[in-house]
Amino acid sequence: MTEPPPFYDDLAGCLDETWRRLEEGAAHQSGFHTPALATIGRDGAPRLRTVVLRGVDRTLRTLRVHCDARSGKAAEIAADPRAALHAYDPKAKLQVRIEGTARLHGQDAVARAAWAASRPMSRVCYATSPGPGTPLAEGGATIQPRDDEAVEAGFPEFRVIVLTAARLEFLYLARQGHRRALFTWDGEAEAATWLAP
Ligand SMILES: Cc1cc2nc3c(=O)[nH]c(=O)nc-3n(C[C@H](O)[C@H](O)[C@H](O)COP(=O)(O)O)c2cc1C
Repeated sequence: MTEPPPFYDDLAGCLDETWRRLEEGAAHQSGFHTPALATIGRDGAPRLRTVVLRGVDRTLRTLRVHCDARSGKAAEIAADPRAALHAYDPKAKLQVRIEGTARLHGQDAVARAAWAASRPMSRVCYATSPGPGTPLAEGGATIQPRDDEAVEAGFPEFRVIVLTAARLEFLYLARQGHRRALFTWDGEAEAATWLAP
């Protein structure tokens, strides 16, 4: 049987490992690159979709995702900022579940910095019309921006979602026995406990 990893029986190590994998995910290097983001629908039902994890700041406990102002998720977060993020990395055998409060940034310093760092092919979506989720008569009935100027005109629709974690649950699958841990933050005060898997 393979040796358990160093974080196996170390609560602080489990949290470190989770942030490390999330940071790698934001840099395209782990299975945490495309997590699922959950919001609360205007009807109170859960809404779930895949997103690209664009940035992680473990000191601030924030995760950054980009979206269109015209999207369902943007409207849902504006109405109720409670949100959750889930990812499972099968190679690492690690699941993370994060719950917290999401904040939308548009046309501010956070949005400008994220826009400047994003690739032209990512910017194209925000200049497409009609907006995401609009019913179409045909699958391809959308208008795409034709030049750089038109792509840049999409910036007003660009939103950055910054999710601040209030609760982070770690689950590591192992033959020797799974490890599950819960980390919560009340303001800056951190609490940590093992949970029965
Ligand atoms: C691999 C993958 C990555 C995606 N990344 C994003 C993303 O970063 N931001 C986003 O708004 N939608 C992203 N999407 C599309 C969403 O999953 C979703 O279909 C779309 O945004 C509409 O969601 P909404 O109506 O709930 O807002 C991605 C989809 C896939 C399959």
